[in-house]
Amino acid sequence: MRENIQSIKNEALSQIMEATSAGELEEIRINYLGRNGKLTLQIKDISTLDETEKKEVGLLVNEIKTVMTDAIATQKIKLNKQSGEWFDPTIPGKKPKSGHLHLVTQAINEISNVFGKIGFTRARYPEVEWDWFSFEALNIPKEHPARDTLETFFLDTKPSKKYGEMVLTPHTSSGQVRELQRIPPPIRMINIAKCYRRQSDVSHVPMFHQFEGLVVDEGISIVNLKGTLDYFAKSFFGVDRKTRLRPYHFQFTEPSFEVDITCGVCKGKGILAKGKACKLCKAGWLELGGAGMVHPNVLRNGGVDASKFTGFAFGWGVERALMMKSGLELADLRLLYTTDLRFLKQF
Ligand code: PHE
Repeated sequence: MRENIQSIKNEALSQIMEATSAGELEEIRINYLGRNGKLTLQIKDISTLDETEKKEVGLLVNEIKTVMTDAIATQKIKLNKQSGEWFDPTIPGKKPKSGHLHLVTQAINEISNVFGKIGFTRARYPEVEWDWFSFEALNIPKEHPARDTLETFFLDTKPSKKYGEMVLTPHTSSGQVRELQRIPPPIRMINIAKCYRRQSDVSHVPMFHQFEGLVVDEGISIVNLKGTLDYFAKSFFGVDRKTRLRPYHFQFTEPSFEVDITCGVCKGKGILAKGKACKLCKAGWLELGGAGMVHPNVLRNGGVDASKFTGFAFGWGVERALMMKSGLELADLRLLYTTDLRFLKQF
């Protein structure tokens, strides 16, 4: 009987594998597993066996039933797939592709949070701005090169008597006087916005982002500036990072500095493990951007009593900070502002 059952199984399986249509498979199923099917008839004979055999053969038949049912299902799927009509409704649906924030937006949000924690309020001012807020009120004289049409985008509009021509903001510093005029000190502003300059090459884009800090209150000194910079460096770049101030010149701050941060690759040493010079930085330092103590003329232009209040300001590039943080080395910075998904999807 066992042999019978085994040969029925083998016969059925080879038929199943050779079947070429669903109809044929159904016929096979009926022939073997149907009410008068070959296997079913064998089951009926089981009652004639003795107890131990009954059990064993029963198990065997059940096992073969499953094997055959599975083989029929598998063959059905195979045939359906071949005919291209196959649809398996039990497969989980495809997740709709969802995008994510652009990496510059991610950086802006992070910078915003870092400064938000120490009481800075996020501000945004017009990106199409008067000359006065962009230059004049910042103590930048008419003949300054930044005010040249080669550097800045000027709009072809009628100039204002009071504010001069219209420009695309060349830096977020244009928000300084706007903020001073908006509210009286104490001021803790972080202005993150787009800036525009007439530049376009592998390391410059005509539109980029800056984040500008402005703090004005009684008794604000360089110590407060340095403390804020250190806090930012540690929060944004990592706890082991340090900053230093290098004397520099800006029209709207006095004294002015360039802010450097220790290099994340060589840890500020300027040399790597085998005594090789670090390629990323200059002797252990990376340049972050400008800063300084707000020039009294700027405070006055903002309607603030410069004999009572002092302040500091800093303005850095978001893209630059992002690259320094991530170690991202873009062969062409303009990639950030193309819509190439192969690039964007990586972040
Ligand atoms: N606005 C300056 C620039 O774009 C940076 C700066 C901001 C410097 C604030 C000093 C204070 O280069």
